[in-house]
Amino acid sequence: MDIIQIENLSKKFDGFAALNNVSFNITRGDFFGLIGPNGAGKTTLLRILYSMVVPSSGNIRIKGLDLRKDYKKIKYILGIVPQDDNLDADLSVLDNLTIYSMYFGLSKKESLKRSEELLGFFDLSDRRNSKVMDLSGGLRRRLMIARALINNPEIIMLDEPTSGLDPEYRHNIWNKLVLLNKEGSTILMSTHYMEEAERLFKNMVILNHGEIVVRGKTEDITRNKKSLEEIFLDIARK
Ligand SMILES: Nc1ncnc2c1ncn2[C@@H]1O[C@H](COP(=O)(O)OP(=O)(O)OP(=O)(O)O)[C@@H](O)[C@H]1O
Ligand SMILES: [Mg+2]
Repeated sequence: MDIIQIENLSKKFDGFAALNNVSFNITRGDFFGLIGPNGAGKTTLLRILYSMVVPSSGNIRIKGLDLRKDYKKIKYILGIVPQDDNLDADLSVLDNLTIYSMYFGLSKKESLKRSEELLGFFDLSDRRNSKVMDLSGGLRRRLMIARALINNPEIIMLDEPTSGLDPEYRHNIWNKLVLLNKEGSTILMSTHYMEEAERLFKNMVILNHGEIVVRGKTEDITRNKKSLEEIFLDIARK
């Protein structure tokens, strides 16, 4: 059974279709990409998956559970990195992790252990007591991803996690995500960087105007053809 099943998903905002009858599945262990021009519907789709936006119609199952009915169970297996920074700027790096862990009911001891592990994994240990407002954009982004992993999620969803990062930070985040995927996490991620998409994604969909225009294995999409960047530009100009 596919770990994520999306069937006939639509979302209208005041009559405008941000998503129009989108269906696809994601298999367990995939590193699955969402690409498409600005306004294509990527964030809307991800927000629906993490229950921040209610769809107009359609069905979503995560590990076989109905997202509408079972979100309270599903949230324990999801790690979410939204497009906009929603860290608590007044709190320290460590407090951002431990306070978020309360949402998943971790004990104080578990929470501190897991938080320290994640600070180590993301090379943030020496900044544990810094206020988030004093961190650079790249460090904040790493903390956003660290926070999403506090509950050891089986599925990680990230909306443009590397946007605005310098190449070194970007590589650093790629390495972490590849490692998490190798260890068994299923990853669903959006990006505007076509090099990143070609490098990371095993399968992907390309959205345009709320509809899927291309889907498949990354290597099949780019095989004998143009680069992903050229394919993207052809779609965006339509
Ligand atoms: N709350 C909202 N109210 C009205 N329109 C919205 C709302 N959220 C999104 N939209 C519209 O839905 C469309 C899809 O937006 P969405 O943010 O999903 O695109 P995206 O693919 O993530 O774009 P980007 O690459 O710029 O992040 C856009 O036209 C956007 O203006
Ligand atoms: Mg977006």
